[in-house]
Amino acid sequence: MKKLASLILSAVLALSFSACRNSGTGVANDTSANQTQSESTSAENNTQSEISTSESSDTNVLIAYFTAAENSGVDAVSSASYSMVNGEAVGRLRAIANMIQTKTGGELFSIQTSVVYPTDGGELIEYAADEQANDARPELTSHIDDFEKYDVVFVGYPNWWADLPQVMYSFFDEYDFSGKTIIPFNVHNGSRLSRTVETIAELEPDAAVETNAFTISEHNVPDAEKEVSDWLEELGY
Ligand SMILES: Cc1cc2nc3c(=O)[nH]c(=O)nc-3n(C[C@H](O)[C@H](O)[C@H](O)COP(=O)(O)O)c2cc1C
Repeated sequence: MKKLASLILSAVLALSFSACRNSGTGVANDTSANQTQSESTSAENNTQSEISTSESSDTNVLIAYFTAAENSGVDAVSSASYSMVNGEAVGRLRAIANMIQTKTGGELFSIQTSVVYPTDGGELIEYAADEQANDARPELTSHIDDFEKYDVVFVGYPNWWADLPQVMYSFFDEYDFSGKTIIPFNVHNGSRLSRTVETIAELEPDAAVETNAFTISEHNVPDAEKEVSDWLEELGY
């Protein structure tokens, strides 16, 4: 029964994403339809990055995020993987991370992988479905210096197939969050957080995982500043 429900959900999501793709409001750009995923170093392929954190900062707040835009080698100007926020083309998760950074003074960290994700929306959706079916652990190419110094880690990710992108599993495998507070935030296209907050709590049983997580539709990202700010105030920032 559960399997049937999950198959139906997958079919509905697949139809919904394919509709988005065809209407031009999809989840990733289709301007580079010939590009397929390949393994290479993120330093060569990613267009924006915070490869590692700076050891000189004295903040105890880290804002780690994963966005397809910084892991697909796409051209920011033409790509629908980017949102225009205050006149700047940024990945949607990066846009929200920037807003959190402005208010908290935390340090930004871009989660990057050696997988160069397809720039074509349809290919990306299929690629991510395969990664999920294989329970993949994409190799991380960006690493956090001095992870011990952070007490609070905001963790941002897109909803991919009603779950965390597989690279987030790699991320939670790499670090020991014992004793830290994890504050999730996500961007979605209808499924909101799905079960991701519960999943993070299962992956990091010795961390305090904030259940008042932030979630926003991809369409509302450019105007999210007040919503982000109100949420942070609820959390005491
Ligand atoms: C592979 C893939 C799977 C997705 N699956 C879902 C989903 O199951 N539910 C949903 O609401 N949105 C889904 N989306 C939409 C993304 O969550 C949304 O576009 C998000 O803004 C992407 O953030 P980014 O552009 O910063 O990477 C999916 C997008 C992609 C690329």
